[in-house]
Amino acid sequence: MSSDAANDPATRERTRPYAIRDLQAMKARGERFSMLTAYDHPTATILDAVGIPVILVGDSVGDNVIGYDSTVPVTLEEMIHHTRAVVRGAPNTIVVADLPFGSYQVDVEEGLRSGIRLLKETGANAIKAEGAGPVAELARRSVEMGMPFMGHLGLTPQSVNQIGYRVQGRDDASARRLMEDARSLEEAGAFAIVLEAVPSALAQEITEELVVPTIGIGAGPHTDGQVLVLHDLLGLSTRPAPRFAKNYVDLRSVIADAVKSFQAEVAGGEFPDADHSY
Ligand code: KIV
Repeated sequence: MSSDAANDPATRERTRPYAIRDLQAMKARGERFSMLTAYDHPTATILDAVGIPVILVGDSVGDNVIGYDSTVPVTLEEMIHHTRAVVRGAPNTIVVADLPFGSYQVDVEEGLRSGIRLLKETGANAIKAEGAGPVAELARRSVEMGMPFMGHLGLTPQSVNQIGYRVQGRDDASARRLMEDARSLEEAGAFAIVLEAVPSALAQEITEELVVPTIGIGAGPHTDGQVLVLHDLLGLSTRPAPRFAKNYVDLRSVIADAVKSFQAEVAGGEFPDADHSY
């Protein structure tokens, strides 16, 4: 394989695993990239085989897998548990793990300790946390300590009790604040910034302003990368998907149909047949 092909994100057969520096190189070349959530080993093996460069073990595990109403109740232990499973299935992918609510808000030291546990006990490559201000300081200290840091601005679901699930940055003041927050995270050393539920034009301005890649979710088409919650993409969510989440397949129906077929064959004495018996 030529070195161009080896570095092409669309080339499935890679000669080396994705590295964080590849994301900035892709931005510099104007190549869009994808990030998806995963919370378990089999899913991680699929994303890794397809060649998705970044897997996010999001705290959205709370409302997509564990059955919580939001991401707020997710614990550091739960993040460690799910991240370990994903890392074991994704040797070629950059695995980013979310710091859950309550594991970094009290002070930077606690955030550092939580980040160290997430990386040390799981083998993930980077941590992500929501917000700026003190979180920019957490980003700076994390990077100084050797922990790559991904930012997350706009709709920050851990603050749902304060801001709801609403588009952010619609008025001038909050748009300016978002731009300043993005600059502060980049300056602190964040290697990428998720922009969630912000107007496309603002996401474009932030994307053009920053050297590090932006990764949009509900932020329009101009960000450097796009992320979706895999359960929304697959039609596996139990809650209504947000408007920005495109549903590529209705896996809930596929699974329900398979389960109904099994149930009917058991009831009718067709399963197990000779092929599935010893
Ligand atoms: O937890 C998560 O899935 C996220 C994405 C929405 C970016 O943070």
